[in-house]
Amino acid sequence: MCEKCKGNYYITTPIYYPSSNLHIGHAYCTVATDTMARYKRLQGYNVKFLTGTDEHGQKIEDKAKEAGVTPQQFVDNIVLGEKGVIDLWKLMNISYDRFIRTTDDYHVAAIQRIFKKMYDNGDIYKGSYKGKYCTPCESFWTESQLVDGKCPDCGREVKDAEEEAYFFRLSKYADRIQDLLENTDFLEPRSRVNEMVNNFIKPGLEDLCVSRTSFTWGVPVDFDPGHVVYVWIDALFNYMTALGFENDKYDDLEAFWPADVHFVGKEIVRFHSIIWPAMLMSLGLPLPKKVYGHGWLNFNGEKMSKSRGNVVDPYLLSERFGVDALRFFLLRTFPFGSDGNFTNELLMGTINTDLANTLGNLVSRTVAMSQKYFGGNLGEGGESAPLDEEVKALAAEVIANYEKQMDKFQFSVALNEIFRLLDRANKYIDETTPWILAKTEETMPRLLTVMKNLCECIRISAILITPFMPESAEKILNMLNVPAEARGWNAQCYCADEKAVWNTTVGPVLFPRLDVEKELAALEELKAQAAKAKLPPLEIEPYSDEKVDFDTFCKSDLRAVKVIECKNVKKSDKLLQFTLDDGSGTPRQILSGIAKFYKPEELVGKTLVAITNLPPRKMMSRESNGMLLSAVHTEKGEEKLNLIMLNDAIPAGAKLC
Ligand code: MSP
Repeated sequence: MCEKCKGNYYITTPIYYPSSNLHIGHAYCTVATDTMARYKRLQGYNVKFLTGTDEHGQKIEDKAKEAGVTPQQFVDNIVLGEKGVIDLWKLMNISYDRFIRTTDDYHVAAIQRIFKKMYDNGDIYKGSYKGKYCTPCESFWTESQLVDGKCPDCGREVKDAEEEAYFFRLSKYADRIQDLLENTDFLEPRSRVNEMVNNFIKPGLEDLCVSRTSFTWGVPVDFDPGHVVYVWIDALFNYMTALGFENDKYDDLEAFWPADVHFVGKEIVRFHSIIWPAMLMSLGLPLPKKVYGHGWLNFNGEKMSKSRGNVVDPYLLSERFGVDALRFFLLRTFPFGSDGNFTNELLMGTINTDLANTLGNLVSRTVAMSQKYFGGNLGEGGESAPLDEEVKALAAEVIANYEKQMDKFQFSVALNEIFRLLDRANKYIDETTPWILAKTEETMPRLLTVMKNLCECIRISAILITPFMPESAEKILNMLNVPAEARGWNAQCYCADEKAVWNTTVGPVLFPRLDVEKELAALEELKAQAAKAKLPPLEIEPYSDEKVDFDTFCKSDLRAVKVIECKNVKKSDKLLQFTLDDGSGTPRQILSGIAKFYKPEELVGKTLVAITNLPPRKMMSRESNGMLLSAVHTEKGEEKLNLIMLNDAIPAGAKLC
């Protein structure tokens, strides 16, 4: 640790299952962690922020099989591929210091050593497992834990599972875990403690099945071939292997373990507050200082899930509204410990009210007035008034409250504090009426101080808002030309007196006001386009297994025909009526259901291919003598058809064989 540092700080997100692309719910936790990491860095901590991907397990193996690729290829695509996990975190400005993949060699080898250690100390033993398994959640359940016979976490069907397996003596740690949960601040918010104790510990903690033999995509138990380590054991230890525990890849364990906090979603609190500390106890390792179980983001009142088709795409929203606006919205709107209901209307409402009206307006008005009245240069001098002291006192109060709330992970409350100051500053403009002060020379010194107070309120708010909206905060500080040394946590001395000097520059519109109706329609359109883009680019008809004997095939009389006339058939939006030269001297009439694909005039003069010996057929009371050949396929979900056209040098009537 360097001398200037306040200390080390280790914060983690859950590592994500790369079984499909991440949605806004995943982004929620990562944005929160990033905000906390940035806040701690701002305060002068030496921060290690870990995130990553949890790549083993039956679900991944099944999905890879479905996709016809190896599990490694499957996860590589979702983690490293275009618009994958890494791309998303880059787009969303996630400042992680380390990214772990549980398929990384050093992690795999470390897990094998860890498993063996717990086997050697007697906490892992061999037995036989009979119970229920939820494949999507990779969770074992006992009969009594099921809800209506289904997985208590996701509500889906569970499977019977019976196999020889290794078990971890979780039951042995029940009392110590209960004590940890009930008598310390290890798990927050407090409501989660009751949930864990009442639902899992009091009914009796059973030993945990920690190996599987029915699939192979996992860390192999090296002393017992055929067994792979239960994915949650593999996953939980990422928090330590990523620091160098049981491996030589990193050397940060001493500096950063125990973790200051693990941020996790509420449905995985059980793993983090019961199983994880029990395993650490088994190995005699220090426990993380805190596990914080945040709530879930639902969409229009329903759980977000791919199968429901209601997942919200963070790419789409970031691209449309800006990454900072999205980051801000997530933490401003939903109290971190509770569930929240995401709607696009709420997102846009927050952008308009808080960002465009309150913050954006304050900055643009202040810069515009300083330009208009002082050419952007707020030099020495001025004249204070008692009102300024009130604003100054509020700024100090806001900073103190903000810090208190951030340290409790109460992001929405911390943001409320910043908005108290921003609202006060907007009101200060109305109270001081700079446009009137600007009218007479005698009131110009007062105007100068008013402008300095506004700049100072904006500067302080921008510093506090930096962890939430790093890019926008920087833009604001640039518009006020705040020097680097006045952008940090320690630069909060309120300074709007006669000595203070400011210099402003007109900058971009920070948060343009949104036309909600228009934006909702645009979002629908973008969603439809994205869904289309996800369809396989090209689909061809499946090949037929049924064989046609050669003689039968040769019976089809395929000829080159030239289009003499082509027209739409009245009252039919499908049919085109062709008059064709087939070389026989008598024009041939064919009706074809291709009006959706061609305009009649495009086809006149073209040389096409027709089967000419089909029996005549009546269509819309007209006779069709044959069929025109075309090629069909599907592209991005849309049916495509191309008539087979021959070189025009081929004469009408030429036989195709
Ligand atoms: N791989 C495990 C974590 C292992 S940590 C040692 C996992 N992965 S996950 O991809 O399914 O979920 C990652 C995180 O996203 C979890 O904390 C989960 O709670 C969170 N969320 C997934 N959907 C969510 C919402 N709709 N809302 C908020 N967070 C949610 O679990």
